[in-house]
Amino acid sequence: MAGNTAAPGQAQWSSKAAFVLAATGSAVGLGNLWRFPTEVGSNGGGAFVLLYILCVVLIALPLLLAESLIGRHGQRSTIGSAVHLARQSGASPAWSLLAVVGLIANTAILTFYCVVAGWVIYFIGTSAADLIGAIGAGEPLRGAFAPQSVEQIQQMMPTLFANPFLLVGLQFAFLVVTVWIVARGVKGGIEMAATWLMPAFFFLLIGITIYAAITGDFAAAVTYLFTPDFERALQPGVLSSALGQAFFSLSLGGGAMIAYGAYASRETNLGQTSGMIAFADTGVAIIAGLAIFPIVFSVGMAPDAGPTLMFQSLPTAFHSMPGGAIVGFLFFVLALFAALTSSVSLLEISVSWVTEKFGVSRGKAAWGIGVPVFLIGLLSALSFNILADQRPIPFIPGFENATWFDAIDGVTGKLLLPLSGLITAVFIGWVADRKLVNAETGLTGGGLAAWRFLIGWLCPLAVFAILVIGLFPQLLG
Ligand code: PFF
Repeated sequence: MAGNTAAPGQAQWSSKAAFVLAATGSAVGLGNLWRFPTEVGSNGGGAFVLLYILCVVLIALPLLLAESLIGRHGQRSTIGSAVHLARQSGASPAWSLLAVVGLIANTAILTFYCVVAGWVIYFIGTSAADLIGAIGAGEPLRGAFAPQSVEQIQQMMPTLFANPFLLVGLQFAFLVVTVWIVARGVKGGIEMAATWLMPAFFFLLIGITIYAAITGDFAAAVTYLFTPDFERALQPGVLSSALGQAFFSLSLGGGAMIAYGAYASRETNLGQTSGMIAFADTGVAIIAGLAIFPIVFSVGMAPDAGPTLMFQSLPTAFHSMPGGAIVGFLFFVLALFAALTSSVSLLEISVSWVTEKFGVSRGKAAWGIGVPVFLIGLLSALSFNILADQRPIPFIPGFENATWFDAIDGVTGKLLLPLSGLITAVFIGWVADRKLVNAETGLTGGGLAAWRFLIGWLCPLAVFAILVIGLFPQLLG
């Protein structure tokens, strides 16, 4: 296509399947396993799930296509690709603001993502020790943490939180691995990990869900997840949380999907791949909910326990499961890989921009960005102990009680990612060259018309409305 010269040395995925798996690897991560159940629980269950699915289908899916086509067309960093498309459309390069906001937001997300991934590493360590103990005792097929009571298992998170050195050490370890993979390059590391580990992760998760269904309170979980309370759904906070979760979970908001789209070949039908990625990601989120909530209800945990929900419910499930010592260990290892295939995409966004803009090597860019990411991440790690009483942004509605961790998570997810999505929708729907954009989608006929309507009208209007209502809840009276 005219003017679409790839930047020199631009990497490419080796196949369409590799692209779908890598993009799914970016999408599927702690957002599905940890954040989705947490948000469901904090926002009243079924109402949130219903709004979430609507947000995915009507807003996130059209934006996923828009972002991946910006990247594929530009074959550059997220900002470079947005500038390129704007220039080719005769529009101001200032439209790349969508990618600037995205870069800032996603790099901020990486700061606390490493903290939560550190919790996963903690459970890998404790379950490895437990598994070795089980094998030593000649009972390799026993449940996880058999010598401990359920109450003691529930105490593992508070115990970890009380140890800032360990928390920070684990956060650091995860970040180092992320930086190391990104420094090595896109193709070998990211693609290999995604191709092998994502399918393995998927099967294990289904297995765990079946177990939870048989042994836990599955009926209560299904009712909780799928019976919407419409009054609750109308509360403004629930809607902006659902939208934020859709952006977070699908890696949207001016970031990873542009970056990964840039490595997709011209033959890839982006309309089709976007559908596959959104379907897989939503499937994993719902399955994770179906694995976690039966246990939550059967052991009488509060569904709104907050960010520790997954880390208290799943170990409890593995405790009562025959073979749980092995299954639990494997689960946390795979959850770590799911987190890595996401964190790598979070870092890739800024690394590809810095290498393009300043001509430094990938390695230098990755390690250089790693330092501030670690330092800012300390605020999140210490939110669970030393800084637990700090409330950095009490003046923003909905954030009165937010710690640093909650604030960085909430502001990026509920405000910055949707803001970038809003600019993207206006840019792609109204400003960018129509012919060029349409050709990139791979859609035709009714599909194309539907997408044009969603990206040009529904996405910008809905995201704008949700952002405004989120910031000024008093408007609803
Ligand atoms: N989608 C990832 C998850 O659900 O864990 C998180 C994420 C990755 C968000 C990449 C944003 C992003 F650019």
